[in-house]
Amino acid sequence: MKSVVLAVCLLSFVGFSTQEKTPQEIQLTQFRDECIKESGVEKSAITNADKGQFDDSNKKMQCFLKCYYQKQGYVDENGTLLVSAIADKMSGDKEQALAHVKKCEGITGEDVCETVYKIHKCFDEHVRASAAPAATA
Ligand SMILES: *[C@@H]1O[C@H](CO)[C@@H](O)[C@H](O)[C@H]1NC(C)=O
Repeated sequence: MKSVVLAVCLLSFVGFSTQEKTPQEIQLTQFRDECIKESGVEKSAITNADKGQFDDSNKKMQCFLKCYYQKQGYVDENGTLLVSAIADKMSGDKEQALAHVKKCEGITGEDVCETVYKIHKCFDEHVRASAAPAATA
């Protein structure tokens, strides 16, 4: 259950309810909208990513993720994961959540967008596998 916290923080771009948003959700929504503008990504790509469906050739999506993670302070300018910054934002069982994060440390791509994209996919796989073992196709 605790990894769901991580899933909400890191993976959900569109899944917030329209009412009773927490300040954190409001901020994430704002980051998301800014990064959609900055990257020019199609909303459908984000909706698909939220469901764990990725198109590896979608460069705009990769750069959207770079923007989104950077705004949250989860990666530096080079796409290196800032594990302690992520830990600071977590509540609950940090040990378990950080175990997922650490599995995805050190991943690199051909550029910063691709690096963050690969890290995100890595999180997605780990979190999805542990949060919903029965839901895998
Ligand atoms: C990012 O990479 C460049 C080039 O390798 C390096 O000079 C810079 O210090 C790095 N930035 C951070 C925050 O590590």
